[in-house]
Amino acid sequence: MRTRPLKVALLGCGVVGSEVARIMTTHAADLAARIGAPIELAGVAVRRPSKVREGIPAELVTTDATALVKRGDIDVVVEVIGGIEPARSLITTAFEHGASVVSANKALLAQDGAALHAAAGEHGRDLYYEAAVAGAIPLIRPLRESLAGDKVNRVLGIVNGTTNFILDKMDTTGAGYQEALDEATALGYAEADPTADVEGFDAAAKAAILAGIAFHTRVRLDDVYREGMTEVTAADFASAKNMGCTIKLLAICERAADGASVTARVHPAMIPLTHPLASVRGAYNAVFVESDAAGQLMFYGPGAGGAPTASAVLGDLVAVCRNRLNGATGPGESAYAALTVSPMGDVVTRYHISLDVADKPGVLAQVATVFAEHGVSIDTVRQKGKDGEASLVVVTHRASDASLSGTVEALRKLDTVRGVASIMRVEGE
Ligand SMILES: NC(=O)c1ccc[n+]([C@@H]2O[C@H](COP(=O)([O-])OP(=O)(O)OC[C@H]3O[C@@H](n4cnc5c(N)ncnc54)[C@H](OP(=O)(O)O)[C@@H]3O)[C@@H](O)[C@H]2O)c1
Repeated sequence: MRTRPLKVALLGCGVVGSEVARIMTTHAADLAARIGAPIELAGVAVRRPSKVREGIPAELVTTDATALVKRGDIDVVVEVIGGIEPARSLITTAFEHGASVVSANKALLAQDGAALHAAAGEHGRDLYYEAAVAGAIPLIRPLRESLAGDKVNRVLGIVNGTTNFILDKMDTTGAGYQEALDEATALGYAEADPTADVEGFDAAAKAAILAGIAFHTRVRLDDVYREGMTEVTAADFASAKNMGCTIKLLAICERAADGASVTARVHPAMIPLTHPLASVRGAYNAVFVESDAAGQLMFYGPGAGGAPTASAVLGDLVAVCRNRLNGATGPGESAYAALTVSPMGDVVTRYHISLDVADKPGVLAQVATVFAEHGVSIDTVRQKGKDGEASLVVVTHRASDASLSGTVEALRKLDTVRGVASIMRVEGE
């Protein structure tokens, strides 16, 4: 074993970074044996240097992250600051000064992954980011390496623990959205400002990263259709139950049937209770992958938290250190397929639509005609009348999102349709 240590600069020492430092220290001997050389924490960049940080020698702490990555003797930079800047500049500077990078930063990777991969390649360095998607769950490496010989057709995932916790609460207790969110906040599952989670921004960043890797195609954050879950109601869960389904916020990356294009989207959807993703409870994450040869695979586990996320970071750190000792680099960006990323209108799926309508003869026929005119075929219809008003629940066969949008627009113009109470896609069948 080499005795000269590999030097690691830790950028950020918060929820994830503090656990990375702890595991680096407590597992030092095992990590050294697995890598073939010891690793040394050479510096820790933070914003508030006076904060007490257990197990971190005060002399290692700095507020000058740029100077740390520019030192020239750093082998690996671990970026766990988060956000776009200064993380992006620090990573680029790290490559320029000879270091490889491990990051947990989904927002940055989704936005600037291509440029960062290019910078890593230009300097012959590694960029690894297993922790950026679904925390501890091995997903990036299985897609990038284990499935490199297969053809992935679909990735369907619960990749945000906060929203899964909220939806699971609504499902199991009958709570409304706000009540479930309040509980998630009180228990520390939701941040004070939950927008990034509940509006699907976090999941969309992960969908962009997953789609890019799965389909060997650059998928930008803007390419990902995004719908949050704040409008999901207890009534939606009741409807889902009637259909033998539950509701999950899903990230869905799909290859079109003709194989020439892909789509990526995040939205709440009904999935059958028999689907493995339906049984993912609480704040857990799970990703279901469908490929030509392997068939169906499911990856499941804690998608966040300091120690679980640090586990993924440490795995990357070991891999990058091994590459470094071998004078090699791991896989970089693979975007050779360059498939077209199609808009949401091209997505084909089933829909569950609840309409408030006038309770009088002919309404059902009128509504059915609108569906037919837009080429959307109806699977089932349920009607419930009360005091001159009625609710109509229509479940369609597979249709394009564009056809469905056209249908809904036309339905809204009917005098007899008082309102469109909810539209929910039905997935995983
Ligand atoms: N938390 C999770 O469960 C989880 C899961 C998966 C991925 N991630 C990703 O991991 C990354 C870190 O998340 P986290 O939850 O650990 O965040 P965090 O607890 O807020 O920690 C951020 C750390 O970065 C430091 N920092 C902030 N701005 C800085 C700057 N300009 N220069 C130097 N240091 C700076 C902070 O310093 P102070 O300590 O002085 O404030 C803090 O130590 C993010 O990209 C996040 O998306 C987190």
